[in-house]
Amino acid sequence: MMTPEPLPDVRQLLAFYLEAGVDCALADEPINRLVEPEAAPAAAAPRQAVAPQGGRPAAPAIIAPRGEPPPPPDAAIASAREAARTAPTLEALRELLENFDGCALKQTASRLVFADGNPQARIMLVGEAPGRDEDIEGLPFVGRSGKLLDRMISAIGLDRSKVYIANVIPWRPPGNRTPTPQETQICLPFIRRQIELVDPDVLVTLGNPSTQSLLGTTEGIMRVRGKWRDYDTGKRTIRAIATFHPAYLLRSPSYKRLAWQDLRSIAKMITV
Ligand code: URA
Repeated sequence: MMTPEPLPDVRQLLAFYLEAGVDCALADEPINRLVEPEAAPAAAAPRQAVAPQGGRPAAPAIIAPRGEPPPPPDAAIASAREAARTAPTLEALRELLENFDGCALKQTASRLVFADGNPQARIMLVGEAPGRDEDIEGLPFVGRSGKLLDRMISAIGLDRSKVYIANVIPWRPPGNRTPTPQETQICLPFIRRQIELVDPDVLVTLGNPSTQSLLGTTEGIMRVRGKWRDYDTGKRTIRAIATFHPAYLLRSPSYKRLAWQDLRSIAKMITV
């Protein structure tokens, strides 16, 4: 007769969760997400967006009252588009995002991860979404892949005071899961507006998700990387290039050689 495996103790279970990327508790009680939510009471008025300083009042970007489930994706996407357009400055955009409840990721993230670096920079780098370290610090690319990104930009004589760094998604997806297409669509108008407001000469997308959503490509990073293309900011056309995500390079260091070619090409582009 087979002896049953002993049940894991709590420590082993937690170690297993951590390994699987489950590193934070989202609520005290489990939530059955398969059950239809009850209709929100009609009296629960949506919270209003903060009027950006010096600008016209923001569109009614804020959809879900605190504690309520976020709105359906289509409404959230439309609202994000309308809201992002109204932000006259980066600060107003940050404030708008702080008050935007249309993306469920905000509820599970600890904080907004808006940007790091110099808003006057000629180069803007955009990744996918914050991870655990970024969620703790509130800054993009501060974990292991961020350290590599720092080394990559320093190889072409740059540092964070000479570039501007952001992500397509400004809230950490729980357990670092891949953002859903709806979450990406909801966040896209904001990062597009952020690019327009920073107005860099060169946009660098890091990895597949950011490249596909910003440059509108469907091909994989292997094919699109290293090729210059135009990016329309809404104000003017700038040059854009995709390269590998540093997290990918940590897993596949043999591609650093190609990343180095991309970096040299970027360095050359900003000297012209
Ligand atoms: N990966 C990203 O795409 N962005 C970060 O900020 C950190 C890791």
